[in-house]
Parts: sequence; structure tokens; C-alpha cells
Amino acid sequence: MSSCWGEKIKISIFGESHGKGIGVVLDNLPSGEKIDMNELLMFMGRRSPGKDKTSTPRLEKDFPNILSGLLNDTTTGTPLCAVIENTNTRSQDYGEMLRYPRPGHGDYTGHIRYQGFNDIRGGGHFSGRLTAPLVFAGSICRQILKRKGINIASHIYSIGEICDTPFNPVKVDNELIQRINHEFFPLVNPDCEKDMRDYIESKRLSGDSTGGIIECVATGMPCGVGNPMFGGVENVISSVVFGVPAVKGIEFGTGFDITKMTGSQANDQYAYDENGNVITLTNHNGGITGGITNGMPILFRVAIKPTPSISVTQKTIDLIHKKNTELVIKGRHDPCIVPRATVVIESALAIALMDILQI
Ligand SMILES: Cc1cc2nc3c(=O)[nH]c(=O)nc-3n(C[C@H](O)[C@H](O)[C@H](O)COP(=O)(O)O)c2cc1C
Repeated sequence: MSSCWGEKIKISIFGESHGKGIGVVLDNLPSGEKIDMNELLMFMGRRSPGKDKTSTPRLEKDFPNILSGLLNDTTTGTPLCAVIENTNTRSQDYGEMLRYPRPGHGDYTGHIRYQGFNDIRGGGHFSGRLTAPLVFAGSICRQILKRKGINIASHIYSIGEICDTPFNPVKVDNELIQRINHEFFPLVNPDCEKDMRDYIESKRLSGDSTGGIIECVATGMPCGVGNPMFGGVENVISSVVFGVPAVKGIEFGTGFDITKMTGSQANDQYAYDENGNVITLTNHNGGITGGITNGMPILFRVAIKPTPSISVTQKTIDLIHKKNTELVIKGRHDPCIVPRATVVIESALAIALMDILQI
């Protein structure tokens, strides 16, 4: 198996949740790009666990040791490799998963696919922990993109049935982007935070979990980038986003709801703005038509499923005695993946856009 991705920019992610460490190699980065390490660590910090009751209490510093490709905080153009040590593992919690696969996790499918040789401790290579190197790679890419006027942000669109205010699809203000870029619980309307947190806490207390939707945007993308059919911008973004565990769906622009509209409502009609730039008056297509950027914000939403590891009793199988049984999961888990996953989705988008733009 390989966890490599990319045509122009290439990333290779390695490691297991309870092995010595995890990491990433980034190939084909441009040379001479200054990297703000404080900002990079801030983005990685938004993903790292143990901050509050919405995430697993497993405390990991997630400090990237950069082995190559960066000198004086500037890219050299050679492969950039970063390794993150695993320091806080409790592998005894996972002994039973070899025998009793967790419903909703990769234990059973991984066991069959790798004939039982996969490292199951902490979810192994299937773990959400593998998104730490993804965020490292994405945080390098988004700094390069920002210098070209492309800004990325996301917010928690919904948790269960509780919804934030959506982004304005035709214009997402830079002040909003800068604010939510720094937030662990990013919301357009911070008034919904309490209801969302209360809901997550109620699921945690009952040993259960919840999912939600992340809305993500990139502004400043030039018009005319991408391809029709298989090399489309939607295709490329989706292929990295589906590399993030727990992602179960993606919709661009108005997404599935566009089916309830008529053509005259759904078409994004053209106009010249006051500066003579071509814009569309609406953005039901999420900034992409014919697989090619149209210059409007790239906008999409990602469905994140409820955390599979829950302490509610569930039905599973005993792989040794080949009989039905029940499972109560031990270990430390996120009652809701969504807040930590916001920066992961932003990072996936940054990596995809670097590739699409052939930087
Ligand atoms: C940031 C992040 C944190 C995660 N934390 C957990 C966790 O604590 N417990 C768990 O069972 N799954 C967690 N997951 C999800 C699993 O890794 C994922 O559901 C599993 O690998 C199965 O893959 P699938 O959901 O894509 O089918 C997390 C995912 C992400 C992105």
C-alpha cells in the first residue's frame, strides 16, 4: 500500500498511531519560500488533541522535527521531510480490537486487506493521528498560496442538527478568514458555540459521539485553472479530502440542494464588477464550472461521521471463535471529530490547490 498523493506537488505520509512516529515527505516544493514556523505550529495546534472536552484527552505535542528541505526557515527545493514523535500511547487499550473489530472503524477491513499483519494499536495507519503530517504539509502549502493572494478558511457548518451561519458564497471577507484561521472552534456566528458544545458534551457523557459538516472556502483563485472530466478541480480536491478519515461526503456550491432548483435559479449569471472583472452573481457551482475555476470563491462542504469508537455497548464479532458478541470500547477518543478536522480539511484543500496551480 502507499499513502502518496499528487502529480506536481507530491506528499507521502507514513507511520502508525502507536509506532515511534508519523511524518510526511513533500516533493517538488518551490525553493526560496519563507515558512513562518509560529503560524505553522498554530495550525498544527488546532488539530492536536486534548484541548477541551470535544476532543480525546490523549495529549500529544505534535512537534514536527524537520529532517530536510528547510534551511533558515526557507524551502531549499529538495524533499522536505518532517517527523512527529508519538509520545503518549496506551496500546493495552487496543488488545481486544484484534479479536473484536470496532464497528465503523478500519479494524475488520484492515485485518482482511492486510491478512492480519496491520498494526492495529491506536488504529495504526487508519488513525486520525495520521492527519497531523497532513496538516504540516498543508500549512506549508497554504503559506505559499497566501503569498499569491489565495486564502483558505473553514468553519463548523453544523454539529448534529445545530447549524452555524453559512459563508456568503459570493464574497468571504478577509477579516472573517483571518479570525477563524486562528480558532479551534471556528464559527461564522460565535453565538452557536454554546449549543454545539452542549450537544457534544451530552453525547460524551452518554458514551456516544456525533458528527457534523465543515464548510471550507478558498478565495483569490484565478479563473481558468483545471480541466474538464477526470482532471477537474472538484475531482482533485475530493481525492485529497477523501484521504481524511471519517469523511463520508463532499458537495460543492449549493451541492445536493441544486437539484431542487430550476435552471434559471441554479445558473450563476455573469456580470462585470465595478473594476471590470468578470464575476458571477450567485455561486451555486462553488467557483468551478466545467472542472475549471471561474474566479469566484471555491466553496464546498464535507460530511464528517460520528466518531466510531464509543463506549456504548455495540454488537460485533469474535474473530477467533467466529461467533457474535458485544463490545464496550476502552481508550481515549474524540466525542466529535469536527472541530479538530476543520484545519485538516483546510490543509487538504491547500495541498490540492498547489497541485492544481502547478506551483
Ligand atoms: C482528526 C481526527 C480524529 C479522529 N479521532 C478518532 C477517535 O478518537 N476515535 C475513532 O474511533 N476515530 C477517530 N477518527 C476517525 C477514524 O480514524 C476513522 O473513522 C476510521 O479510520 C475509519 O475510516 P472512515 O471513517 O474514513 O471509514 C478521527 C479522524 C480524524 C480526522
